[in-house]
Amino acid sequence: MTAPTDLSDVLATDPFSRDDIVRLLRAEGDERLRLFRHAAAIKEQHVGKVTWLRGLIESSNVCEKDCLYCGIRAGNRNVTRYRMQDDEILEAVRFASEQGYGSVVLQSGEIRHAAFTARVSRLLDAIAGIGDGAMRVTLSFGEQDEKTFREWYEHGARRYLLRIETSNRALYARLHPNDALHDYDARLRCLALLRETGYQVGTGVMIGFPFQTDEDLADDLLFMQRIDVDMVGMGPYIEHPDTPLYAHREALAPVAHRIDRTLKMVAILRSMMKNINIAAVTALQALDPVGREKALAAGANVIMPNITPERYRNAYTLYTGKPCTDEKPEECATCMDLRIAMAGDTVGYGAHGDSVHWTARMAKEGR
Ligand code: 5AD
Ligand code: FES
Repeated sequence: MTAPTDLSDVLATDPFSRDDIVRLLRAEGDERLRLFRHAAAIKEQHVGKVTWLRGLIESSNVCEKDCLYCGIRAGNRNVTRYRMQDDEILEAVRFASEQGYGSVVLQSGEIRHAAFTARVSRLLDAIAGIGDGAMRVTLSFGEQDEKTFREWYEHGARRYLLRIETSNRALYARLHPNDALHDYDARLRCLALLRETGYQVGTGVMIGFPFQTDEDLADDLLFMQRIDVDMVGMGPYIEHPDTPLYAHREALAPVAHRIDRTLKMVAILRSMMKNINIAAVTALQALDPVGREKALAAGANVIMPNITPERYRNAYTLYTGKPCTDEKPEECATCMDLRIAMAGDTVGYGAHGDSVHWTARMAKEGR
């Protein structure tokens, strides 16, 4: 079936087909703006003109994996590796709590080890004692086993971010070494386990890496809809010279194209999954100084201010051109308020900002 040619007809279609999504991804000029306005209206109606903040703590750049695109991959010898101490992490959480952030995200390279599991559990216990004990914790520690996911849930973690990176199995194999440690099916299993455990589940993809097509991007959005995610963070791929994928930079779409596709992916996803949380990601700001504000205007409703101590921030370089690596967390907070106001939103201080989608699902399931 071919997609309707009139943009209004496409926007009124529910659910979107793959062709509809590709049509929207390629919208230009006035049609492109209509797509963004459509998404903004849906955002206002279903989740409000509110941006939720999550303080991002990059707790360590030590990683056992070797993803072909990532700057902190194990094989990159040009990285100064660090691990934040427990008290440094807790201090950052305290800062987030004082700022009125409803939530923090703890992220690091992937380590699978009983001692790591136990350490995170201890940290979660300590975080429960900070402020009024209401801080929502999101974990982003990669693939782990079922027992570990459960243990962290029992210690209070309620959200988990694990990007699928691409829903296309063949592309996944081009982005990762082909070994047991980088297995597409294992990633899918983890997403299912997280859901079963009761987490608000977040996933996402990289946009505009070599060999990826608009059809692949359409499939990515359909994948997110199919697994019924609660949160999404997706951003432009940014080439890193110390990674194998850099060799394919000739096949890379121009920066403007990657920004365009990222904004459209946000807008289309907001139209498809009206009440989920969608992040305006930092990688977008790395390519466009006001990229995150544009994403908020196109339907995103979450920003993750980086509250990693400055001395570590430079070493957590997944990609090049990471913004604000010299700013103190306090400076970042003031700047963020202004940016969000510029995008026409208010800041959701003092509340968790749970995914409305998740809250509705839990109520339906009687959990
Ligand atoms: N460009 C953009 N995003 C990247 N990530 C890792 N490397 C890059 C890169 N070169 C993203 C991945 C990962 C997240 C933490 O950072 O999607 O899941
Ligand atoms: Fe660390 Fe991919 S390189 S998880």
